[in-house]
Amino acid sequence: SRTNHYDFFIKETNVTRLCHQKTVLTVNGQFPGPTIYARKGDVVVVNVYNQGDKNITIHWHGVDQPRNPWFDGPEYITQCPIQPGANFTYRIIFSEEEGTLWWHAHSDFDRATVHGAIVVHPKRSKGAYPYKKPHKEIPVILGEWWNDDVNHLLEEAKLTGGDFKPSEANTINGQPGDLFPCSQNGTFKVPVEHGKTYLLRIINAGLTNEMFFGVAGHRLTVVGTDGRYLKPFTVDSIMISPGQTMNALLVADRATDGSCNSRYYMAARTFSTNTQIPFNNSTATAVLEYTDAPPFAGPPDFPTSLPAIDDIDAATAYTAQLRSLVTAEHPVDVPARVDERMLVTIAVNVVACPPNQTCEGPNEQRLAASLNNVSFANPAVDVLDAYYRSMPGVYEPDFPNRPPTTFNFTDTDLPPEQWFTRKGTKVKVVEYGAVVEVVFQDTGILGAENHPMHLHGFSFYVVGRGFGIYDGKKDLASYNLVDPPYQNTVSVPKAGWAAIRFRAANPGVWFMHCHFDRHTVWGMDTVFIVKDGKAPEAKMMPRPPTMPKC
Ligand code: C2O
Ligand code: CU
Repeated sequence: SRTNHYDFFIKETNVTRLCHQKTVLTVNGQFPGPTIYARKGDVVVVNVYNQGDKNITIHWHGVDQPRNPWFDGPEYITQCPIQPGANFTYRIIFSEEEGTLWWHAHSDFDRATVHGAIVVHPKRSKGAYPYKKPHKEIPVILGEWWNDDVNHLLEEAKLTGGDFKPSEANTINGQPGDLFPCSQNGTFKVPVEHGKTYLLRIINAGLTNEMFFGVAGHRLTVVGTDGRYLKPFTVDSIMISPGQTMNALLVADRATDGSCNSRYYMAARTFSTNTQIPFNNSTATAVLEYTDAPPFAGPPDFPTSLPAIDDIDAATAYTAQLRSLVTAEHPVDVPARVDERMLVTIAVNVVACPPNQTCEGPNEQRLAASLNNVSFANPAVDVLDAYYRSMPGVYEPDFPNRPPTTFNFTDTDLPPEQWFTRKGTKVKVVEYGAVVEVVFQDTGILGAENHPMHLHGFSFYVVGRGFGIYDGKKDLASYNLVDPPYQNTVSVPKAGWAAIRFRAANPGVWFMHCHFDRHTVWGMDTVFIVKDGKAPEAKMMPRPPTMPKC
């Protein structure tokens, strides 16, 4: 293994999209930011210099960081933010991951523009792809663009207690593409040669949208997700949630004798499971261009099989196909016995509007969100430091294993008293090595929808997913314990449930939250504290002296 170094200069940079110029936070002036390359087992060191004018942190999404929570990144969970003018050096320890991951800011809404790909190649010696080596690899980062400053929109939403304005465009590698005004020149282009195979490393870096993605005239063979391999399957389009990555092979097999188009749109469209909420109804495009075909008159072909914005069946059918590869080199180890069983309800709620304020949430209350009816409140110092130094009063270690009340979880007509939640900084403490099962249950409080639930510090097996209210007996029997996908973000179905299992063999403090950013800031979060084990290799690393102060 090897140590690679990167320098990240966080700074405001002028960017023009959709005919609007604004300054956005970038890394090294790039949007999306630079790609980090590593091989399985490497260590990567990133010096972050905050040359912007606000606090920031960076998170390495999907990297387990064994025993190393200090450099995980979420603000007020594992560190205090890096202040303007300061710098902080992250040490990122890669262990089992191989495939595509990504990094992003983990403070306020900074990740709208502060994000980039992480490419983890197989080990130098003995490592190999479990499929034919592609001719080229192409990061395809899906994102969203707002004409307004996103942190300004966040401040406004905090003040009014109302909802967040939808983005104006989806983007592919930072570009909305040909179908938008003032966007033709920037459209992301992928040159291809007939007969060659390309690996698309697709990342959903969007703040608020699940997305469908497809390429006209070409099918995609999905071979990996979230830094693990899958049993290959071939589809016209994929569905990807914020936080997830999908690796897909594309064979450039269209005729180049002039009988076919030489240009094909790659397109990303919003997938919304609750169209009551205002959404971004737009399609971002990039262009696949055959360099060895005569130019064809007319526009590129459009992927007509891309599902409609509300096509839940298409999304469900896609997700059901994700299965771990399972070979001698890439085995699975699905825990059969569970030590901690948790049923965690997901809800969008309200909290009371502060006196002498007017709030724009439902019934003039403030919008909030919760897990097990606790709306997570960020503490003033980070949970990790508080835990490490046994500081009292920062968090409460009694996050409930079950919802405090049972009600008809999928009922969308609940009385307004049921909309309320309470705030708290409640965390779940587990023993080192315990097997944890979390069943996420979506609720109909203020409207059901999919939620991309993400866990730091671990990947987990998604052993089951279904619609309706989780039924311990029946649904347990339907679990896939043979080849479930190993992921770090699961899309919990609208008015449904998803069950995950992981072995808590990574001591530290690990955030768990919905990867829709408005839900994150509203409190759809909790924290796992995994205690040290007895053996030296089961203990958290000591606190680095360089940690930023709050
Ligand atoms: Cu993509 Cu808390 O992370
Ligand atoms: Cu959510």
